[in-house]
Amino acid sequence: MSVPHAQVPRHVAIIMDGNGRWAESRGFSRIKGHEAGAESVRAAVRASRDAGVQFLTLYAFSTENWVRPLDEVRGLMELLRRFLKTDENELHDKKVRLRIIGHMNELPKRVQKDLVRVMEATREYTSGTLTLALSYGGRDEIVDATRAIARESALGKIDPETITVETIAAHLYAPDIPDPDLMIRTGGEMRISNFLLWQISYSELYVTDVLWPDFREEHFAEALEDYRRRHRRFGGVR
Ligand code: FPP
Repeated sequence: MSVPHAQVPRHVAIIMDGNGRWAESRGFSRIKGHEAGAESVRAAVRASRDAGVQFLTLYAFSTENWVRPLDEVRGLMELLRRFLKTDENELHDKKVRLRIIGHMNELPKRVQKDLVRVMEATREYTSGTLTLALSYGGRDEIVDATRAIARESALGKIDPETITVETIAAHLYAPDIPDPDLMIRTGGEMRISNFLLWQISYSELYVTDVLWPDFREEHFAEALEDYRRRHRRFGGVR
């Protein structure tokens, strides 16, 4: 995994898709696919750290995922709790901070409790940041930012005429985290699925047919290698 450091993305965001298909093709229940997907989460955390990626953001549960069968939603919540329990030590060992974006208050109370505990316990770490998007929607995030700005405006703290791109960016869920340099989607679908809509304006996109439970260190390295060959222009010319 020897990617020249200067060309390593600072922030990688991943749409982890394909757990269901992976399970169904093996005759397993969908939750088995999510369990295998949790192993790929571990691999992604390790691989991003080894490569020198500072921020890793994973789309773990969208606002749209609430309509899935109750068993699957429950299974995903329990899997998340299990992950926090088994992998907290790894976060401490590697000095990785855990953060959450999304409507955390919509998650079951016991999940919220575990998340808050691990976030508090890792808040001082600066080696890396693992952000989990939970009950997250990109449009909701922009709506929430707009509401916050409108409230401040009503209080006379913000003059509407002075609102800029930076004002909106400063009211997103994690304003201190830089925009993703690279957005990976597994499972082959060519869509954004309401993920980080504001932040990905100039992100490089990498879509692979590999299903998330099969996406391990070598696939992560391939995505970084592909990114290294890109020429980012941010609307300018080379
Ligand atoms: C999409 O696959 C995946 C999800 C909705 C959930 C992602 C969850 C995990 C990877 C498991 C655990 C997460 C953590 C942070 C421990 P899909 O079910 O939509 O797949 P399909 O498109 O093949 O049906």
